[in-house]
Amino acid sequence: MCYAIPGKVVDIKDNVVTVDYFGERRKAKNDFYELSAGDYIYAQGGFVVQRVSRREAEEVLKIWEELFFKLQQTDLRLAQKPKDLRQIANSVRQKELGNSCCVHGILEFSNHCRNDCLYCGLRKSNSFLARYRMDVDEIVDTADFAVRELKFKALVLQSGEDLWYDEDKLIEMVERIRKKSPALIILSIGERPPELYEKLYKAGARGVLLRFETGNPALYRKMRPGHDPKARIDLIKRLHKAGYLIMTGFLIGLPGQTQEDLLKDIRLTASLGTEMFSFGPFIPHPQTPLAGFSSPLIEETLDTIARARIMNPESRILVTTSLETLDKENGLKQGLLAGGNSLMINVTPAGYRRLYDIYPDRAGKDADIKERIGSTVKLLYSIGRAPTDIGLGIQP
Ligand code: 5AD
Ligand code: SF4
Repeated sequence: MCYAIPGKVVDIKDNVVTVDYFGERRKAKNDFYELSAGDYIYAQGGFVVQRVSRREAEEVLKIWEELFFKLQQTDLRLAQKPKDLRQIANSVRQKELGNSCCVHGILEFSNHCRNDCLYCGLRKSNSFLARYRMDVDEIVDTADFAVRELKFKALVLQSGEDLWYDEDKLIEMVERIRKKSPALIILSIGERPPELYEKLYKAGARGVLLRFETGNPALYRKMRPGHDPKARIDLIKRLHKAGYLIMTGFLIGLPGQTQEDLLKDIRLTASLGTEMFSFGPFIPHPQTPLAGFSSPLIEETLDTIARARIMNPESRILVTTSLETLDKENGLKQGLLAGGNSLMINVTPAGYRRLYDIYPDRAGKDADIKERIGSTVKLLYSIGRAPTDIGLGIQP
């Protein structure tokens, strides 16, 4: 199974390479390899993340060549004659970005958190939750399995805000993963000092997933007691400046949030130089102060995806697990047909995954990873999407 199309390097200028994909040319930043024209690489998010042998590249390209064009036809057919908001968004996505869909792996390595966000099951006051931490060796091995065996080209390393992972541990983790199992490393470790993030960039991380949660300052202060909304936004901006690809966004359906808040949140996400929009519905957790509230209707999230797509035709928009949790049968498909073009597959070992209980009954909580990959790829093919990432981060 392959999740990316290998590209052939056709030109090199300093650390930017031009890569050819079936005649289409893209640029990607090369921070990690000595490359020459004629080499084959994988790019993710505009970065060269892996070099690949000519033999492997040719094998993969042979599979893709036919399939890719067949999938494009299905996608085109489904995007024609749009009638409502979501169909229009889908047709915008098809026209602007084609049928490629990022499929990233996510590894949840610790469910400890020093914070007490009102909406989250990992909040420190939830004494009902059994807590776990994976040590660095275990994290490196799991990442290696995801990259080598499952073929992911991008991995999100996620945890609560857990200071047990100090600077040394985090740097060691990133350096060892980068060396052993090259992939785009995306950090989702919460609010840590920008200087630490800068060191992790040097160690080889290139993406940060950090939601601003809500752009409404009063609501933010209520939902995240003791936290300053401006500090979070400033951190996201600083990390963008430092060169990180930014994935950010917000929660939909927090108690007290308005439609106007949501529209502003779409704009705020775009204004932060976001590489990938990440927003999803709030799902109440029984062991939190928001236990008595309800989730928003699934339609609200689908319409938000559609609006975000129409307002930002060229963006990547993640279809989140929380959307899928609201409708386990059809949530993912509906999100992809409303303008979404990215998704994540959980690669956390099942025993731990169950304990990453941000909200109850998460989609894929107990799934076998290989089966989950198989069913996701099947779904993508059925709607004409290529589970791939061809380095769209930098346009030629
Ligand atoms: N429902 C949906 N999403 C949640 N998150 C935390 N708690 C919930 C919940 N109850 C999201 C937050 C956080 C991400 C890791 O999980 O947006 O940034
Ligand atoms: Fe911790 Fe993040 Fe949950 Fe807040 S949302 S309690 S910071 S894991």
